[in-house]
Amino acid sequence: MARRLKFNIFRYNPQDPDSSPHTDTFFLEETESMSLFIALNQIREEQDSSLQFDFCCRAGICGACAIMINGKPGLACHTLTDELPEEITLMPLPIFKLIGDLSVDTGTWFRAMYEKVESWVHTDETFDPNTDEGRMDNALAEEIYELERCIECGCCVAACGTANMREDFVGAVAMNRIARFMMDPRDERTDKEYFEIIGTDEGIFGCMGLLGCEDVCPKHLPLQDQLGILRRKMGWSAVKQLFRFKS
Ligand code: SF4
Ligand code: SF4
Ligand code: FES
Repeated sequence: MARRLKFNIFRYNPQDPDSSPHTDTFFLEETESMSLFIALNQIREEQDSSLQFDFCCRAGICGACAIMINGKPGLACHTLTDELPEEITLMPLPIFKLIGDLSVDTGTWFRAMYEKVESWVHTDETFDPNTDEGRMDNALAEEIYELERCIECGCCVAACGTANMREDFVGAVAMNRIARFMMDPRDERTDKEYFEIIGTDEGIFGCMGLLGCEDVCPKHLPLQDQLGILRRKMGWSAVKQLFRFKS
């Protein structure tokens, strides 16, 4: 017999002075292979057309549908209701600016973070459109690609204890970006220059290492490995600077 699901959904429209944060309850008959994305659309179509939430690809690619599902960040389109109890509580991701109900603005946060950690290849080489494309070793290209699979959903940020306590913390997603550029032979930055960006409490030394980030990453990025590598590299860089070794 199909289950009757109870949804407790956070509601608040910060644009509306008459709105105040509260929870609305909705009931749905569970159907086969029902995802939270399907359930939310059904609620919006049949019960409350004002319900706000984000989605785009419905395939775990765009990262837009991340929400708190019974207290844990996850993708609505990739979460099946049969993985959850009959009572499901949905909240917007913390940390990001609330647009309304379950919809948050991750874009502004990600852009600011990318600017802060200078998330682009730093090189003095002048671009010449007439030369052949530079070659990269296949194995290295695959290692870099592994870290490029981030879909900017924000789940790792929402799950992070440090990011929840201090808004200047750049998060595992930023550390993953830096690790990606450190691997890239085109990026000419030295360890000392990377240290200036993330060798701080806002960066790698603010990380408590409890790995909530990796536990919730829907793309299973190797965040734990990258945080460990960066911590060792930046620790060693700090020692070298202390004793004025050449970097
Ligand atoms: S391991 Fe570090 S970055 Fe990951 S959730 Fe914990 S504090 Fe945040
Ligand atoms: S690292 Fe994973 S959890 Fe974090 S934003 Fe990227 S895909 Fe989402
Ligand atoms: S709708 Fe794109 S990841 Fe869920």
